[in-house]
Amino acid sequence: MPLFKKKSTAERPLPRHIAIVMDGNGRWAKKRGLPRSAGHISGAKTFKSIALYCNKIGLEYLTVYAFSTENWKRPPEEVAGIMNLLRDYLKDAENFKDENIKVKFIGDPAPLAEDIKALMKKNEDGSKDATGLKLNIAINYGGRDELVHAVRKIVSEDITENEITEQTVSDRLYTAGMPDPDFIIRPSGEYRTSNYLLWQSAYSEYWFSDVLWPDFTPKHLEKAIEEYNRRNRRFGGV
Ligand code: IPE
Ligand code: IPE
Ligand code: MG
Repeated sequence: MPLFKKKSTAERPLPRHIAIVMDGNGRWAKKRGLPRSAGHISGAKTFKSIALYCNKIGLEYLTVYAFSTENWKRPPEEVAGIMNLLRDYLKDAENFKDENIKVKFIGDPAPLAEDIKALMKKNEDGSKDATGLKLNIAINYGGRDELVHAVRKIVSEDITENEITEQTVSDRLYTAGMPDPDFIIRPSGEYRTSNYLLWQSAYSEYWFSDVLWPDFTPKHLEKAIEEYNRRNRRFGGV
């Protein structure tokens, strides 16, 4: 029986906000003797199916790491391939329209191509009234870069030393106004944050798995959520 079917919210406590590091595309392709680009194509399909699944089960927030501030170090052909996949997804996102998913991009859009920036805006504007899943896609996102931008904003607003609180910082992150991620999932057998949601993850629960992102299915997500529900979050209390 599917875990989440026809159960009341109390019976199926979902985290409010799940964040995923979509990692392992390259190794997935290598294992099959395919170019890395094939891994990214497959990973993009997984992304769509997981986003649709999260919407279906009534998750409030899903934040996915699609391209980091450090990923520019990759060979130019690989970066161009990922950008083209992003273009395809954004053009195709009309297909998401009926899904009632609200899309937002987090990260610094400055170095992205103009047509991509325009498509991103179109997607955000086009889905702004959606009431289903809030889907954040992290593109050219880095937690440190985000904090640098927040500090710059604070300085440019002439906020004085004594006025600065944690809220001052939170309000100037790309995730301003959102709850922190309750649960961060990283597949692909790596045990690191890779600069993801550094501030926001202060009390997040982590779940790691060896499964490579293109092989990640809703079943893995269900298992992860089951484990999340067995955890005891204390936030520093007792
Ligand atoms: C994640 O998969 C996709 C991006 C970082 C854009 P990788 O491309 O990092 O795959 P691996 O880690 O090399 O297997
Ligand atoms: C993290 O994966 C970034 C994304 C999945 C977008 P990386 O593959 O870039 O991380 P590292 O280099 O293994 O830490
Ligand atoms: Mg990787």
